[in-house]
Amino acid sequence: MSVNTKLYEGKAKTLYTTDEPEVLLADFKDDATAFNAQKRGSIQGKGSINCTISSKLFEQLAAHGIKTHYIDCPAPNQMLVKAVKIVPLEVVVRNIAAGSLCQQTGLPLGTILEQPLVDFYYKDDQLGDPLLTRDRLLLLQLATEEQVDSIAHLALQINDFLKSFWQKCGITLVDFKLEFGLDSQQQLLLADEISPDTCRLWDMTENDPNRRVMDKDRFRRDLGNVENAYQEVLQRVLQVVESK
Ligand code: C5P
Repeated sequence: MSVNTKLYEGKAKTLYTTDEPEVLLADFKDDATAFNAQKRGSIQGKGSINCTISSKLFEQLAAHGIKTHYIDCPAPNQMLVKAVKIVPLEVVVRNIAAGSLCQQTGLPLGTILEQPLVDFYYKDDQLGDPLLTRDRLLLLQLATEEQVDSIAHLALQINDFLKSFWQKCGITLVDFKLEFGLDSQQQLLLADEISPDTCRLWDMTENDPNRRVMDKDRFRRDLGNVENAYQEVLQRVLQVVESK
């Protein structure tokens, strides 16, 4: 398979067309951004680490009946994916209060939520990815009612799987962001990535609120040891996957 033209360059990935119809190549970058790209930097090895972690998680999810855009991982920082039209929603599932939920509601950091919370954000950099209500989402025709129901249902199913997967890694899944896309048959597929960039992951063996952080919050909050934390997450994922 040969790689053709650059289709799109995002903050963390570049997408290329290939000579196979409806197959794209995603090149994962070491570039890191936060706060709607107001903070920029680089995390050495991040591209390969996130691509490898995402690939393993997509494979595990597929084995549990969740349809994803993942096809193959031809190199540690490259992923072949099915071409999809991305639904312009960032779907966040929360198990424990952190980040914007604490800022916007006053809930103390670390509050365990009785039930997982599914939040929808409008994927629009210019607007700063605002939080949406279901009615606003439908008003803007970002998805149909049926699609919203399917996305919410899938997000909770994925949360059930990921919570227990990360637990096997000795990691608490605090919250995470998903994106979905529609293929040429209008089938809803899980897309984008699942990685320490898109999940809040806390080391179960650490009680210290800074030391336990194994995700992009280390970069966002200048906590240091970012590369080591990402590397440690990768090692734990590989151990769990290989022990099966
Ligand atoms: O910022 P907030 O607390 O709403 O983030 C919730 C979760 O979604 C976090 O795990 C964060 O890493 C992820 N997220 C993301 N991309 C965004 C916004 C949030 O991966 N643009």
